[in-house]
Amino acid sequence: MGLTTGFDPMAGMPEEGSDLEWFLDAKLGIFIHWGIYSVNGVSESWSFFNGHIPYDEYMAQLSGFTAEKFDPYAWAELFERAGARYVVLTAKHHDGVALFETALSDLSVVRKTPAARDLVAEFCAASRWKNLKVGLYFSHLDWSHPDYSPVSPGCTAAAMEDGKVFFRWTEGPYHPSWRNFIEFHRGQIRELCHNYAPDLLWFDGDWTPGPNWWDFETLRDDIDLWCPGVVVNSRIGKSGDYATPEQGVPIVSPRGPWEFCVTMNDSWGYQGKDRNYKSLRQIVRLFAECIGMGGNVLLGIGPMADGTIPAEQIERLEGLGQWMKRHAEAIYGTRAGLPHGHFNGPTTLNPSGDVLYLFFFDRPAEQRNSLSVKGIRNAVRSVSVVGSRQSLGFRTIGGASWAGIPGVLWIDLPPSALDRNATVLRVELEGPLDLFRGEGGAVTTN
Ligand code: GLC
Repeated sequence: MGLTTGFDPMAGMPEEGSDLEWFLDAKLGIFIHWGIYSVNGVSESWSFFNGHIPYDEYMAQLSGFTAEKFDPYAWAELFERAGARYVVLTAKHHDGVALFETALSDLSVVRKTPAARDLVAEFCAASRWKNLKVGLYFSHLDWSHPDYSPVSPGCTAAAMEDGKVFFRWTEGPYHPSWRNFIEFHRGQIRELCHNYAPDLLWFDGDWTPGPNWWDFETLRDDIDLWCPGVVVNSRIGKSGDYATPEQGVPIVSPRGPWEFCVTMNDSWGYQGKDRNYKSLRQIVRLFAECIGMGGNVLLGIGPMADGTIPAEQIERLEGLGQWMKRHAEAIYGTRAGLPHGHFNGPTTLNPSGDVLYLFFFDRPAEQRNSLSVKGIRNAVRSVSVVGSRQSLGFRTIGGASWAGIPGVLWIDLPPSALDRNATVLRVELEGPLDLFRGEGGAVTTN
């Protein structure tokens, strides 16, 4: 990017033309946790694992999962309006209930619920119709599978009814049960790849029994054969393409590609009693903070058992979409902006590095000289408001340009320029960003 000062917003990022290119440009994905847990509004899989409800009671939700109002085309339109460029659906969560037709188990919504539809197939078709990249979430561990070490008395009973001799982790990865499980695990991933050709595989649940049990390197090789070009998240030992911080916006930018996954309230799946929603402003803000550090956001929603997306979630998606649409040029295809310390808020850069976007959340105390950016050595051509194109006054004050020490860029911000969720300014530079990153020192020639 022609930077003279050791600052490179693309440090650790894959080369141009890599399979991750669409992912890096996309910025916003929607993470859909949909499963039988939405019937009673309990936590996805964890409710029985943590003993909040018995396994049988959890599984009894199968009979209430209807998907009768599921309209994948309306979903896809909504996600497109929200500004998302990709979507990720829980094809199978830790509870082992597949949302797709699998030849390897009866435990699917197709065979065991009144829905009796391959929801993954319909979801993929509709999402592609709207040009959304398709991601499938798949839990490695499966707390219902009789060959997985049982996790609750209910699962143990189910395994015993099946006549299985279950095993304990202490028996090691060469136990026949574990070998069976691995065959099943590989088989279902192969089904996902062959039947739905996802653009992204979003794995989860790689934490037990331990990395050497799964042989993730071989799995990754297989996946690359079954589904060439697929992007894979990090929860597959060390064989993934990008990091997945969760629920807390990173303070320090992760190195390389990453995606922050976050719920809108406090639950991944639908839990009607959880009203602890983030406001639209808060969502816009965390989104800007992530893209400013070069990351994506995978924003969670939890549809109800009949396929209805709760009103609070629709409202936020629509609101986010309106803001995204207005500020698209500062979002899609951009790169991480300035490191902390230069501007009091997130920033992004266009690919050629000569346009800097500033994201600003608050109402300044005065109009003139209200925003400052430090460390920019380039001459500034113009400053304008993204969305309205209103041009703004600016001036550089101070510094010692002959010694390479830039002054502070001050920008005027009249109230008419402010967006209620986040104002975005476009700073056009003379040439690619040349950033002063020094600690300062004496100026020896005056
Ligand atoms: C955690 C949870 C899981 C959720 C996931 C989303 O790993 O186990 O319930 O699906 O986070 O990132």
